[in-house]
Amino acid sequence: MRNLDGMSETLTIGGDLEVRRLGFGAMRITGSGIWGPPDDPDEARAVLRRAVELGVNLIDTADSYGPEVSENLIAEALYPYPDELVIATKGGLRRTGPGQWPRDARPERLKECCEGSLRRLRLERIDLYQLHSPDPAVPLEDSLGALKELQDEGKIRHIGVSNVSLDEFELARELIDVVTVQNRYNLVDRHAEDVLDACEDAGIGFIPWFPLATGDLAKPGSPLDEVARAHDATPGQVATAWLLARSPVTLPIPGTSSVAHLEENLAAGELRLSDPEVDGLAEQVRGRSAA
Ligand SMILES: NC(=O)c1ccc[n+]([C@@H]2O[C@H](COP(=O)([O-])OP(=O)(O)OC[C@H]3O[C@@H](n4cnc5c(N)ncnc54)[C@H](OP(=O)(O)O)[C@@H]3O)[C@@H](O)[C@H]2O)c1
Repeated sequence: MRNLDGMSETLTIGGDLEVRRLGFGAMRITGSGIWGPPDDPDEARAVLRRAVELGVNLIDTADSYGPEVSENLIAEALYPYPDELVIATKGGLRRTGPGQWPRDARPERLKECCEGSLRRLRLERIDLYQLHSPDPAVPLEDSLGALKELQDEGKIRHIGVSNVSLDEFELARELIDVVTVQNRYNLVDRHAEDVLDACEDAGIGFIPWFPLATGDLAKPGSPLDEVARAHDATPGQVATAWLLARSPVTLPIPGTSSVAHLEENLAAGELRLSDPEVDGLAEQVRGRSAA
């Protein structure tokens, strides 16, 4: 396995937030079904501290993770925050039980979500606030209009969107200054390829959620094995390195509740795949699961 001895290059979000391209997704530091506290809160806090110690300066979370649990743990573990740390949170989903995520992106609800996140994260301004998902019951103009108002009030520095189609992304860009897009994307699930390409054209950060396909891509027994062996790496590290190589605007945020997995995941920032490896992997896994 590759060990961590440095970090990947950086990307500047919104013209003024320079982040290392390999971040941390803080959804997994909660209970089963992303509901309630994690089994081991001390380990969860240790994961967050270790991430920052190892150079991570982009942490992704949401009010709905737990709900509230992930944001609270971030503040407990890391406040007062290092200057360069960018905490990206989201609003626009409700939680009604484990594994349930109904959408609610009404303007008044988004404002409530943002106020709650500011309080829990102990921030006066959130560096990157993302609309968690467009709500089919609410015009996108209204949801993004609420975030723009929060931005004008100084409560949000930059706005990102998540789970958007190409049409929604383009509409959002007409309405506000979109600095990041966060969509599901990994080596075996490339439905968001069109959005990623549009982000690359526009120089906008693309945060691929589900980078390890819930750990499936970290397991042995897939086409990743051969490339992993060639680089003395693990399959999960190859999956992450593939995302970093796929486009200069990707910002993978592998999530984990374990310090050992975190260290393994961050070491992928050192792994450089050749162009034939990047293309070959994409070809080999096309239309099949890597698990
Ligand atoms: N915008 C959205 O709608 C949305 C949706 C989902 C997620 N996200 C964000 O994206 C982040 C990443 O997505 P994700 O957490 O679902 O998926 P992921 O990073 O693809 O996978 C996380 C899962 O893989 C396991 N894992 C992590 N590292 C591993 C390793 N080295 N070896 C073996 N297993 C490993 C974790 O278990 P362990 O805890 O045991 O390591 C966890 O179950 C989330 O944390 C969240 O911030 C956003």
